[in-house]
Amino acid sequence: MDAQLEALLNQLLEAERAGHVLLDAMTQETADPQIKALFANFTDIEVGDAAVLEGLMRLHGGTPSAKTSDFANKVLSIDNLHEQINVLSRGQAWVARKVEQALVLNPPPDIAAFLKEMANRHRHNMEWARAQAIKAFDE
Ligand SMILES: [Fe+2]
Repeated sequence: MDAQLEALLNQLLEAERAGHVLLDAMTQETADPQIKALFANFTDIEVGDAAVLEGLMRLHGGTPSAKTSDFANKVLSIDNLHEQINVLSRGQAWVARKVEQALVLNPPPDIAAFLKEMANRHRHNMEWARAQAIKAFDE
C-alpha cells in the first residue's frame, strides 16, 4: 500500500476509534433522550467504520495502526455540552476533509468507494449535530 495513503487511512482509523470512545463517554454524561439517541447513532457508525477500514487496509497490504487519537480526551476536557457538540461537529468535518485528501491519492476502488460513503455519513452527521445543537441550545 502507498505509504502516504496508509498514513492518511491510519489517521482516519485512529480518529474513528477516538470517536467511539468519546461518544460512549458523552452518552453516559447526558440525560437528554434526544442527545442520547444522536450519540448512539454516531457510535454505531464509528465502530463499523473502524472495523471496515482496518480490514481494507490489511487486504491491500497496509498495516493498520493500533492507536486511538487524543480527540476524545480533548473533547471530554471541555466542560460544556454545547461546545462539546460543536467540536464533535468540527471533528466530523475533519474526517470528510481527510477522506478527500486520501481520494486524491487514487486508492484502490474498494477503498475509494468505502471512503466516499464514510465522508458522506460524516457530512450528514456534522449537519445533524449542528441541527441538534441549535434545537437544544438556541432560544
Ligand atoms: Fe467518525
